[in-house]
Amino acid sequence: MMTKMTRLTASGLLFLALALVSCGDGEAPKNTEKAANAENLIAVGFSQIGAESDWRRANTKSMRETFTREKGYTLIVGDAQQKQEKQIAAIRDFIRTKVDYIVLAPVSEQGWDDVLKEARSAGIPVIIVDRMVQASNADFFVAWVGSDFRKEGDIAVDWMEKQFKDKKELKIAHMQGSLGSSAQIGRTEGLRDGVGRNVGWKIVVRDSGEFTQVKGKEVMERFLSEYRDIDVLYCENDNMAFGAIQALDDARVPYGTRGGLKIISFDATRAGLKETFAGNISYNVECNPLHGPRVEKIIQQLRDGKKPNKIAYVDETAFDAATIAKEEIDSRAY
Ligand code: AHR
Repeated sequence: MMTKMTRLTASGLLFLALALVSCGDGEAPKNTEKAANAENLIAVGFSQIGAESDWRRANTKSMRETFTREKGYTLIVGDAQQKQEKQIAAIRDFIRTKVDYIVLAPVSEQGWDDVLKEARSAGIPVIIVDRMVQASNADFFVAWVGSDFRKEGDIAVDWMEKQFKDKKELKIAHMQGSLGSSAQIGRTEGLRDGVGRNVGWKIVVRDSGEFTQVKGKEVMERFLSEYRDIDVLYCENDNMAFGAIQALDDARVPYGTRGGLKIISFDATRAGLKETFAGNISYNVECNPLHGPRVEKIIQQLRDGKKPNKIAYVDETAFDAATIAKEEIDSRAY
């Protein structure tokens, strides 16, 4: 049912397509031009963080596969290249051109109040996806769906407690994701509390690899130049772990199930599970990026006059190199 209050006009969509070229992922203009000729499409403006990881790319794909023209939508994606100011500019463009819904995957938790207030004043519902925002008014967004990042950190720490229960001293290298993001904050808090309750656990070195493989390699090289006797690398996503593995290989430092340092990672992407199955990542905590259908469900609830859950966590699991089955990789959707 398409009982819409504000429809994008053809000229509005064309303007938005042009405006997003600089921060778009290359397909936005094509999609919006098509949409400009179409009737009654529901316009969804999606402000995406960027394409820093396999997880992120799978997340964008899930949105694209869900919000198709065939299903009555036009999706305008703004790729912010990790910059909050670009996300804010994209949201302002969405407001100016009167999209029906704004979906925001926020790069960091803070700093959204002004633009969310503007969306609210314009009467455009905002759905937050993946990471959380700290808004001064709960009404600045209608719903959030994503991962319980703190729980992910706790799951990793539980595994460490079992795995290293006989070790008197545990030297941990901590590679963080993008500072200020919910994924970094939750996973870091889990480790912080684990270190707090386990006498003998020590973080010997810590830095941010910004969730990318390139940075992950650089940061691991730096860690190794300072410490050679690391027991655990607590690495806050798969792509940074891939970079760390490259650095460990280059430096001929042993790791994984064959002995040496153990790597803990997050995401459990298909590529991450391959490394887990190979024994290179010892434990991989899942973070599910397939949010497209979840966001669509929220939009449909809103259109049906129903109230979606304000906060919805996704169920997630974890994979141990000692027990992972090959089928887990083959059946992985991302
Ligand atoms: O917010 C989810 C995190 O962001 C994922 O762990 C990471 O890979 C991504 O870039």
